[in-house]
Amino acid sequence: MIAIRIEALNKTLADKEREFRLAVPFFSIAGGERKAIVGSTGSGKTTVMDILAMVTEPDDCRRFELDDGEELIDLATIAERHSALARLRAACFGYITQQSPLFPFLTVAENVAVQQKVSHRPDRAYAEQLAGMLGIDMLLNARPAELSVGQRQRAAIARALSHRPCVVLCDEPTGALDPVTARQAITTILWAAGQTGAAVVMITHDWELASEFKFEFHVIETKRREGSATINVLRPLDASAREVGL
Ligand SMILES: Nc1ncnc2c1ncn2[C@@H]1O[C@H](COP(=O)(O)OP(=O)(O)OP(=O)(O)O)[C@@H](O)[C@H]1O
Ligand SMILES: [Mg+2]
Repeated sequence: MIAIRIEALNKTLADKEREFRLAVPFFSIAGGERKAIVGSTGSGKTTVMDILAMVTEPDDCRRFELDDGEELIDLATIAERHSALARLRAACFGYITQQSPLFPFLTVAENVAVQQKVSHRPDRAYAEQLAGMLGIDMLLNARPAELSVGQRQRAAIARALSHRPCVVLCDEPTGALDPVTARQAITTILWAAGQTGAAVVMITHDWELASEFKFEFHVIETKRREGSATINVLRPLDASAREVGL
């Protein structure tokens, strides 16, 4: 079973005017688990997800590893090994990003097929099944410019799930969807994750929906340090604190 484990990870983003500091003292997720990351806008949720997806490298960490059931892979150093990183990403990860960019010159079906091709797992029937569950099966031959924002978001969800990833990362996957369609999207994500026993990490502002689907909550808390410097810390949120959020 897949498992990711992070210990004492730090990341700083800085430019001339500002500095943003993120700390992840401990975070782990295993196959079959669902974790939601909540926190105010700009608190670092996407930064955490980009680190998990190995799009952004941490500055330092005690441990950042993935156990795929056969070997223990050190994710803290894999970024230097470009082909190993590309292989791992393609084989294991499905990332629904906040912007969900699609290739504009390809149809929805072709966008989904690209992900399957890169992962060496072509499966048109599965792509069509996902599109049906997401309510976009009539749009498979449309190009992104011909879709609404919510339809594009669902196309991006289908693409990220189409190669049967064992780690599903979603950054506000229902941000552009009405409540009924949002529920349909989460149901599809969790159904697909169930097919492979995948781990699911989801950033969301929809506490109610995440609670309903039994996600464990983590929050990014902004702590003020001496002077004006702040640090944003990811930590588990216990059930009583969750009531306040709801
Ligand atoms: N190069 C940079 N230098 C300094 N700060 C940066 C830099 N790039 C991003 N940031 C800051 O990092 C913080 C975290 O950004 P991130 O996108 O992770 O937030 P978020 O929690 O996902 O927000 P949202 O809910 O709006 O999507 C933001 O406050 C952003 O302004
Ligand atoms: Mg974000």
